[in-house]
Formats: sequence, C-alpha cells, structure tokens
Amino acid sequence: MLLWAPLSTLVWGPSTVFLILILLLGLCVRIWQRSHPWDLQHCSTDLTGKIAVVTGANSGIGKVVSQELARRGARVILACRNRERGQQALAEIQETSSSNHLLLGEVDLSSLASIRSFAQWLLQEEPKIHLLVNNAGVCGIPQKTLTPEGLDVTFATNYVGPFLLTNLLRGALQRAGSARVVNVSSFRQACGYIDEEHLTGAGGPLAWNQNYDCSKLLLTSFTGELARRLQGTGVTVNSVDPGVVYTNIMRNFSWVYRFLFWLVSFFTKDPKHGAIPVLYLGLAQELDGISGKYFSNSCVITLPAKPAQDPRVVQSLWNATVRLTNLDKMD
Ligand SMILES: NC(=O)c1ccc[n+]([C@@H]2O[C@H](COP(=O)([O-])OP(=O)(O)OC[C@H]3O[C@@H](n4cnc5c(N)ncnc54)[C@H](OP(=O)(O)O)[C@@H]3O)[C@@H](O)[C@H]2O)c1
Ligand SMILES: *[C@@H]1O[C@H](CO)[C@@H](O)[C@H](O)[C@H]1NC(C)=O
Ligand SMILES: *[C@@H]1O[C@H](CO)[C@@H](O)[C@H](O)[C@H]1NC(C)=O
Ligand SMILES: *[C@@H]1O[C@H](CO)[C@@H](O)[C@H](O)[C@H]1NC(C)=O
Repeated sequence: MLLWAPLSTLVWGPSTVFLILILLLGLCVRIWQRSHPWDLQHCSTDLTGKIAVVTGANSGIGKVVSQELARRGARVILACRNRERGQQALAEIQETSSSNHLLLGEVDLSSLASIRSFAQWLLQEEPKIHLLVNNAGVCGIPQKTLTPEGLDVTFATNYVGPFLLTNLLRGALQRAGSARVVNVSSFRQACGYIDEEHLTGAGGPLAWNQNYDCSKLLLTSFTGELARRLQGTGVTVNSVDPGVVYTNIMRNFSWVYRFLFWLVSFFTKDPKHGAIPVLYLGLAQELDGISGKYFSNSCVITLPAKPAQDPRVVQSLWNATVRLTNLDKMD
C-alpha cells in the first residue's frame, strides 16, 4: 500500500510516459534482434558423413554452431585451446545433439607452431574436410600485446591464425569435392583499416579497441582473395557478421565494460540467435557456388569496408601474411 501511493501519482507524469516509451522501444529492439533472418528449422541440409571443423567451439557462437552441425550428422572437430573447457563442451554437445561423432582437437590460434601441429594431426585424422568455420576470436586485449612468436595477440588470433589454418587445410578442403569455409567476421570491420605492420605490433595508430576492428577487416579482406585463388576447386569461402551477441567475448575487458554489456544484453542476441547467420553460410543450399562474399547479420550480401575492396591492398596483405607465416617456404 505504501508503495502504491507514490506509484499512482507517477503514472500520469511525463517521465513515466517517457519511461514506458523507452521500455516499448527496447522491447521492439529485442524482438527485432532475435527475429530469424533465415529459417534454420526448415533447412533440410543433412551432413551425415561430412567432416566439419569449428574453432573456438567451447563457448558462445562456436558451441551452438557445433551442436547444430553435430545434430545434422556431421563429424565435428571441436578445435579449442584449452583441453578442460573443450572436454566440457564436448560432453555437453554430445548430450544435446545425441551425436557420438565428436572429436576434440587442441589449438592455440595465436601460435603459428600450435596451428601447424594441429593441422598435421587433423590431416592424419581426416584427409577430407567439408566445412571449416573460423570462429575463434578475441577482443579487448590491450594494443600491441605480443605473443612469444612476436605477433600481436589480437591480429594473430583473429587473422593470421585463421589465414595459416585455412591454407594448411586447403588440400583437405579440395579433396572433399565440395566444401565451404566460413569466417566469422564482425560489423566492427567497418571501423578498421589495413596496415600490414599491425601484425607484428607496429604500424599506424589505433583508437580504443581498434585493433579488433582492423583484425576483423583483414579477415574479411581475404574472402575475395582466397575465393579468387580457389575458383573452380569446388571450395567456396565467405565471411559473416553474427551481430551483437551476448557471449564471453567481453572477457578481456574491465568489469565496467562487462557490466555495461550485461546491462544491454536484454536488447542483443543470445548465442542461439548469433549462430544463425554463421549456420546460414555453412548450410543453406541457395549458397551453393557463391564465394568471396561478406554477409551482414541479417544474412544479406553486403560490401565490406573500402580497403577490403581494393585488390592491390588485399594482394599485398596476402603476400605479407604468406611471408610472415613462412607459407612461401612450403610446398
Ligand atoms: N559476440 C559478439 O557480439 C560478436 C560480434 C561480432 C563478431 N563476433 C565474433 O564471433 C566469434 C565468436 O565469438 P563469441 O561471441 O562466441 O565469443 P566467445 O564466447 O568468447 O567465444 C570465442 C571462442 O574463441 C576461442 N579463442 C579465443 N582465443 C583463442 C585462441 N588463441 N586459440 C583458440 N581459441 C581461441 C575462445 O576460447 P576460450 O574459451 O578458451 O577463451 C572461445 O571458444 C568471434 O570471432 C567474435 O569476434 C562476436
Ligand atoms: C578466412 O580468413 C583467412 C585468414 O584471414 C583467409 O585466409 C581466408 O581467405 C578467409 N576466408 C574467407 C572465407 O574469408
Ligand atoms: C583473457 O581473459 C582470460 C580469462 O580471464 C584469460 O585466461 C586470458 O589469458 C586473457 N587473454 C589474454 C590474451 O590476455
Ligand atoms: C604478390 O606476390 C605475387 C607473387 O609472388 C606477385 O606477382 C604480386 O605482384 C604481389 N602483389 C603485390 C601487390 O605485392
């Protein structure tokens, strides 16, 4: 009763009307964010006998994607950097998808040596790969934090790692006859720019968190170049933005940002919704033969940021990354 008195005087005040409008607006944003840009349930793609590799499969979007691929019969290789976290996810996915075709692989995508030994193990295990989802990523690492190999952690994990892994698995993808590569990029790529020097912790100035934006732009820029190089091989490559998704992606930010992200999480996607654009690129039959494209989180082909559209810039970056990963000294 005591509570009701102040409430009843509030009800007709302009601030209350404003508050209600904000809440309604928020609700609309939530419904819009979580609406389905593509109907996963009506996609009949069956993956029995197919081999899929998902990096960062133990958390967030990667876990949901792995679960759905396993449910459709694929043998899914969960590529995780931490054995315990990977094992835990494997048990969970096994239970929810009732699949017994899961395999855990250990790889740290910020380490070129780790990627090489993972690829070697994987190629022995599976000579053919039908789907590679480059999903693992980090955000919120301070600028110019270097790995023991002298690479910038953010650029190594989000760009150089997937570059090397994709190139090392190229033969297995081609052997599959028909295969897809999906790179999980970000809408933040639009705020990045391309500077090869960033890869080793040098290069042009970066605004707050712009290392993430640039690394995602580099990842996106390769869609076109790799697609060009794989023309006629039966392997298609595309990249996608999952949207704003409430996952562990903020783990390396301070508690203030993590708290803010939690506050707005009501208005964002959850991992189940965030996985849909990624699954669209992996599963949708209408994308057969489509390659070299960047998709928005509503599953629509979109132009990536300007630098990623310049063939000279993209080729020069490709060459620099080949040298950095010593890929030119192989095959
Ligand atoms: N969430 C969003 O709003 C959003 C928006 C746009 C794009 N994305 C992209 O979506 C992808 C998936 O992110 P998420 O939101 O699902 O975040 P998440 O829950 O943090 O998952 C990221 C995954 O990447 C793994 N990972 C990080 N560094 C790694 C390394 N060096 N080696 C191997 N694995 C590593 C993590 O493993 P650990 O658990 O061991 O750390 C985790 O499994 C990322 O590429 C992210 O950039 C997310
Ligand atoms: C994915 O990213 C890797 C590394 O950045 C790149 O080599 C490859 O071409 C990209 N593939 C797609 C589909 O964008
Ligand atoms: C990011 O945070 C996680 C969890 O707090 C930690 O294990 C990891 O080492 C951090 N990554 C980097 C590169 O600092
Ligand atoms: C990249 O390397 C190739 C072959 O090594 C060369 O032909 C090409 O001109 C280089 N492109 C750029 C932009 O550096």
